[in-house]
Amino acid sequence: MFCDRCSSRRERRMSQKLRMPSIAYVVARSWPDGVIGNNNELPWRLPSDLKRFRAITTGHAIIMGRKTFESIGRPLPNRMNIVLSRQPGNDSDNLKWVNNFENAMFSADIYSIINSLKEFFIIGGSNMYELYGNFVNKIYLTQVHAQIIGDAYFKMDFPPKQWRTVECQSFKEENDQFRYDFSILERRIKVTRQRDISEFYKSDGYAENFIRNYIEAERPRVSGMEFRLRRRIDSVNELAEALQSYGKRGRGEL
Ligand SMILES: NC(=O)c1ccc[n+]([C@@H]2O[C@H](COP(=O)([O-])OP(=O)(O)OC[C@H]3O[C@@H](n4cnc5c(N)ncnc54)[C@H](OP(=O)(O)O)[C@@H]3O)[C@@H](O)[C@H]2O)c1
Repeated sequence: MFCDRCSSRRERRMSQKLRMPSIAYVVARSWPDGVIGNNNELPWRLPSDLKRFRAITTGHAIIMGRKTFESIGRPLPNRMNIVLSRQPGNDSDNLKWVNNFENAMFSADIYSIINSLKEFFIIGGSNMYELYGNFVNKIYLTQVHAQIIGDAYFKMDFPPKQWRTVECQSFKEENDQFRYDFSILERRIKVTRQRDISEFYKSDGYAENFIRNYIEAERPRVSGMEFRLRRRIDSVNELAEALQSYGKRGRGEL
């Protein structure tokens, strides 16, 4: 039983709104046609771009469609891979299978909060880029200068009134098949998402199960002491604390 003061403090804490991590896309398309894939494969060989993709996404949550997951063929290491599919699938250490758009975002939110990360990524394919179009704030965009035949597209455009280019560079390194431009675009007026802390304690236990499985998967990888030092959350009960401090540090940082 909680005393009246504790209960009202707890209620106040539960109804506090937190700003959720920002959503970014990482995408490579042919220019000007907008092709991103053919027969469920990438239609080019650009090792320098794949290296950049790894650097951008490592450590973060990445959301992808089931077809993209199949085309990659395995969960990408050192990232939380969240796969959207209407069919059931098997989770593993860094693989989470989800059956709807909202659960994918919720999983990415929880993972980002546990790890104090302010951004997660949608990595394709075209279905996913369409689904999250109203939420995305930043695009890591590779535009490949080649005429490519394909069956999957990314046609989003970036009117300068809504988007600004913060970086743009051309590349063609030794083993790259084509020349390409890499740019970073940011939405001028950011989309912010908020959640009530109470959402993380819903009776279906989704957040608790996510955290428990994640902690169990991490534990064998590092010794007990190091595990405690590295993780800010060592138990489901500490979630509230992590949510609070994420909220504080999150202010104005998007
Ligand atoms: N160039 C790039 O940057 C890049 C990046 C990624 C991918 N690609 C390419 O893109 C192509 C794949 O793209 P795609 O659009 O065909 O497929 P996709 O987006 O990777 O996956 C589509 C699948 O996602 C699931 N899905 C979609 N919406 C859903 C929803 N609302 N709820 C639950 N599940 C949902 C469905 O899986 P189920 O059928 O299992 O229900 C659907 O068949 C490939 O050629 C790949 O190589 C290119």
